[in-house]
Amino acid sequence: MSRLDSFIRRLTAQRDTLDHIARDLDLPEGAVLEIGLGNGRTYSHLRELFGDRRIVAFDRALGAHKESTPDAENLVLGEIAETAARFAGRDAALVHVDIGTGYDDRDAETLRWLPGLVVRLAGPGGIVLSGLPLERDELQPLPLPASVNPGRLYLYRRRSGQ
Ligand SMILES: C[S@@+](CC[C@H](N)C(=O)[O-])C[C@H]1O[C@@H](n2cnc3c(N)ncnc32)[C@H](O)[C@@H]1O
Repeated sequence: MSRLDSFIRRLTAQRDTLDHIARDLDLPEGAVLEIGLGNGRTYSHLRELFGDRRIVAFDRALGAHKESTPDAENLVLGEIAETAARFAGRDAALVHVDIGTGYDDRDAETLRWLPGLVVRLAGPGGIVLSGLPLERDELQPLPLPASVNPGRLYLYRRRSGQ
């Protein structure tokens, strides 16, 4: 598959799964966290779907389109392993993680700290959507929409009481 085809499938999968979360899944009270603001495309979609919630976006530097740039109080710049840890225990309703690079060695390094961080960010019953697999007992895997190929994205619900 060409990288163009793969890119199109990734974005389509993100949109379809975020729509599925908003339409079909129960979300607890709480904020939405966008881990990896990037250009702000998925942030823009999150705003359309969850505009009634606080949405906090994280990145090491601001590179988003002007129309997808959060207000200063909802934009957290710096290394996510450090900045997002400050939001641990605040029981986010939805954590969307999009910091995979496509390079196995870099993603393996990220996966040393990311699963443990996400478990501390999501509240009981909260939903986690990630481009990288997050293997933790606290995260119950959920089925993806039929349009999304297995392994493209990973969808979980944060178990209660763990
Ligand atoms: C694939 S892009 C996100 C794309 C975004 N979801 C969109 O729709 O435009 C990943 C972003 O995560 C950021 N990022 C990756 N790892 C990071 C880290 N450890 N700390 C801070 N930012 C990180 C990168 O700077 C990049 O902007």
